[in-house]
Amino acid sequence: MLLQKRRLLHLVVLIGISAQLISAGSLHWGNRPFEERLEHAKRILRESPLIDGHNDVAMDIRSVVQNRLEEFPFDQNLTEIEPWASRMACNTDLPRLRAGLLGGQFWSAFVPCSSQYKNAASQTLEQIDVIHRLVKKYPDDLQFVDSADDILAAHANGKIASMIGVEGGHSMDASLGVLRTFYNAGVRYMTITHSCNTPWGDTAGMEDTPEFDGLSPWGKSVIGEMNRLGMFVDLAHVSAQTMRDALEVSVAPVIFSHSNARGVCDVHRNVPDDVLLRLRENGGVIMVNFFPAYLSDDPNSANISSVVEHINYIRDLIGEDYVGIGSDFNGVPFFPIGLEDVSKYPHLFAELLLDEERWNDESLKKLAGLNLIRAFREMEKVRDDLSGMSPFDEPIPREDIVDHLDCVNEWPKPKEL
Ligand SMILES: *[C@@H]1O[C@H](CO)[C@@H](O)[C@H](O)[C@H]1NC(C)=O
Ligand SMILES: *[C@@H]1O[C@H](CO)[C@@H](O)[C@H](O)[C@H]1NC(C)=O
Repeated sequence: MLLQKRRLLHLVVLIGISAQLISAGSLHWGNRPFEERLEHAKRILRESPLIDGHNDVAMDIRSVVQNRLEEFPFDQNLTEIEPWASRMACNTDLPRLRAGLLGGQFWSAFVPCSSQYKNAASQTLEQIDVIHRLVKKYPDDLQFVDSADDILAAHANGKIASMIGVEGGHSMDASLGVLRTFYNAGVRYMTITHSCNTPWGDTAGMEDTPEFDGLSPWGKSVIGEMNRLGMFVDLAHVSAQTMRDALEVSVAPVIFSHSNARGVCDVHRNVPDDVLLRLRENGGVIMVNFFPAYLSDDPNSANISSVVEHINYIRDLIGEDYVGIGSDFNGVPFFPIGLEDVSKYPHLFAELLLDEERWNDESLKKLAGLNLIRAFREMEKVRDDLSGMSPFDEPIPREDIVDHLDCVNEWPKPKEL
């Protein structure tokens, strides 16, 4: 009798252990209730960093408090503090980043196209400066990084790996010296255009009236210089022909820091299939944007499923190794139902866990950040391979900017100095 009881106990313990094993592994998440999937999604993001390609909170710090950080309580829940709470895009603060288990962020150093040919470069340096100051102010939560290995080190250290991307080629003022200075200030991607053409490349919004039909010859050498430096070429916002030209020229993986698939939502900001196929050859990553207008023809009803649709479309077309996340939080006024702010990333992964045909723990870790880290390493290898090359120092041809020279102080001739 005693023996039988012991056997029964043994059996019960064994069943308990195997149930635990099943729930800890990646078996049959599709059958599990939401709360269990959410917990598992969080476990995945604790083990491996979620890296977001684009967040515009630095733009808000400038526009609301002119970069006075003492007036920006990033360690508070900003949905409870004015003037932040009333803003349309109040998506990001440290408590919510922690709740969302973000592991790495490219903070955007964005200045508007209206500053082109004016003070774009100095405003961009101010945005780079405010991001550095923000990271320094919150050392328990943020750690500045500028390499692939350091993203993993920061994550292992419990910090959000903080990187800088410059959003728009207008920021470099058609000057390779400015581009190199951005690199030296820690910038690790530059978007080739924002919503204006630069004097060397075409933007997506003006595809019907291209100036260069993609990149000018000098624009192509900017791509080469970025490869030499080890700065990602970001093809969000550029015209489809600029995407193709850059992919033709770049010897390093490129990124789309916040872009979606035209095959799902046919708008100019999204990426055509032929470019996605070339991205696979290039080894780059497209980081999927959450802006409803780029997700769905019916933006008002965009929800987590709309983001999943883009992720799955890209995965089915080019595979699971070239897709990532690039929310654009704080950059646009609306977000999908269920993905309203940075605390909600795990909800997206909990939704993907339902789809066991496509996703398991390993592939979700790639989507979250390992794909970006892999591309980052390959870019760094190209930089190292090119380390014997001299910096490219040919100024932009005068005829390419002659229409805009009115506010340029030309370098005096030697005898006038
Ligand atoms: C932030 O505040 C809002 C409104 O009070 C609340 O719903 C949300 O749970 C809070 N988030 C965190 C991470 O504290
Ligand atoms: C998103 O909305 C569609 C209907 O528009 C619905 O079928 C789907 O279940 C929703 N997705 C989620 C995750 O709620």
